[in-house]
Amino acid sequence: MKKAVCLITALLLLAGLSACAKQPETENESSSVVVGFSQLGAESSWRIANTVSMEKAAKDAGFGLMMENANQKQEKQIDAIRSFIAYQVDVIVFSPIVENGWDNVLNEAKKAGIPVILMDRMISTNDESLYVSYVGADFYAEGRRAGEYLIRKADALKADHLNVAEISGTIDSTPMRDRQRGFMDVIREDSRITIVDSICGDFLRSKGEECAVQLLDKYGKDGIDVIYSHNDSMTLGVLDILEQRGIRPGKDILLITVDGEKEAVEALKAGKINCVVQCTPNLGPAAMGLVKSLTSGETVSKITHPEEGVFCDFDDLNDPSVEGF
Ligand code: AHR
Repeated sequence: MKKAVCLITALLLLAGLSACAKQPETENESSSVVVGFSQLGAESSWRIANTVSMEKAAKDAGFGLMMENANQKQEKQIDAIRSFIAYQVDVIVFSPIVENGWDNVLNEAKKAGIPVILMDRMISTNDESLYVSYVGADFYAEGRRAGEYLIRKADALKADHLNVAEISGTIDSTPMRDRQRGFMDVIREDSRITIVDSICGDFLRSKGEECAVQLLDKYGKDGIDVIYSHNDSMTLGVLDILEQRGIRPGKDILLITVDGEKEAVEALKAGKINCVVQCTPNLGPAAMGLVKSLTSGETVSKITHPEEGVFCDFDDLNDPSVEGF
């Protein structure tokens, strides 16, 4: 691709443009296909594994990768996309931190003739032509799986009533919206279950700890039966606080989480977490497969979801398939 000749200049200029100047990573600088990748941050083990997956898949495919990490700032993602447009990359891949606010910059990409792939998270727009494809989890199905587990657990415990506190991910992000909606759609009709509170932990372990302190101070140990949090990082923060206070995670307070990182799966096996809804960070091969199809002139599917399941305390946790990423 002729656009690739801009890569070296692009990298020099990009490095100059980025105020806190982390040099964009490049693999295969002589590659004929150049992918601009805007990662949203490094907030969780999931995100770090996702970045590694993208880098490895680009390298394996022989693509040049210009990656910018936005450190949880939408403005930085917009700047990164603009710089990818300026340098005429072949395809833009990005993981939008929140759903709203992308139309202008994506219209600029469209005018420049650069296809955009959404990886991991969706955008909210009336113009679906602003992206060619989405590859990532079905977060709504994940939320439903969490709710279905809770109902099964309530049955097994013969519980009359369960008070649930929710710790959500980043407000207005796709996993936050859909994991909440899916969960609520399942438990809404079950009169045994009450959501006593929903607070935001931003997908961060440190904020998970803060949320746990806040919830315990407000409701006490006996006022909460279940904590449903939207990712493992926050759950592991909760778990630390519960143990510090002599509360047994997984027993005195049930824990339902999403992702499936190693530490969470180990905690599940140790009886400290009750349910881990899987969300795979390994989206690199599928994303780069889409890049390959697009740059070969093929049409691609609008949506690709990876296959995901659930690990929980009803399963045989000694089965070798029960492992984290
Ligand atoms: O968008 C995926 C979510 O983002 C993961 O569940 C979470 O760990 C990450 O921060």
